[in-house]
Amino acid sequence: KKRINIAIDGPAGAGKSTVARQVADYLSFLYIDTGAMYRALTYKAIEREIDLENGPLLKELLNETVIDLKVGEEEQHVFLDNKDVTTDIRSYNVTNNVSFVARQSEVREEMVKRQKVLADKGGVVMDGRDIGTHVLPNSELKVFLIASVEERASRRYKELIEKGIEADYNTIKDEIALRDKRDSEREVAPLVKANDASEIDTTSMTISEVVDCILQLAKERS
Ligand code: C5P
Repeated sequence: KKRINIAIDGPAGAGKSTVARQVADYLSFLYIDTGAMYRALTYKAIEREIDLENGPLLKELLNETVIDLKVGEEEQHVFLDNKDVTTDIRSYNVTNNVSFVARQSEVREEMVKRQKVLADKGGVVMDGRDIGTHVLPNSELKVFLIASVEERASRRYKELIEKGIEADYNTIKDEIALRDKRDSEREVAPLVKANDASEIDTTSMTISEVVDCILQLAKERS
């Protein structure tokens, strides 16, 4: 029997990747972080000093770019043309510029094509912004994770402080809000909840509560 696909969408910092990875682990499914793909291309474009709003040029760059997502011990590793960029793509510069690259239709077209191939055989947990609406519109389970912007900013803040990285709560909050605005207001495949997605507000939930909730839904749809 073909295994189901699970689509997880939502705004920045709603806990999608943490939750998606744990759900995938539990089910022995493959976890695919589509945000990492947009980040990897953004990283390469910044390195090459390419105009981040030039869709055709970015598309050309993407065509000669290999992005691999590999399962690691603790985290997923992202390889850009065989170089491990797992840490590089989380930089401040990439984070605050990725939305410009991601709003180019030429870029999205190619990314979506690659993502569909990855999910072809089923057994995938994929997270992003347009998975339920565009990448896997027929997936058996669609989840839309939300949380208040304050809660999302405070989670990100704690994460950075724990890693020993200096951070300012208000700056983080403003940047998250701005990225959501750009992702929600873009013309191509904006961040929006699919009609048939189950919305989970994680503001006052623990990670394991959210994971359990999704596993329960997955069981019902399998
Ligand atoms: O998920 P993450 O925050 O790493 O995504 C980074 C950015 O990539 C998002 O802010 C968005 O601009 C873009 N993205 C997207 N579509 C996806 C996944 C990410 O446009 N499916």
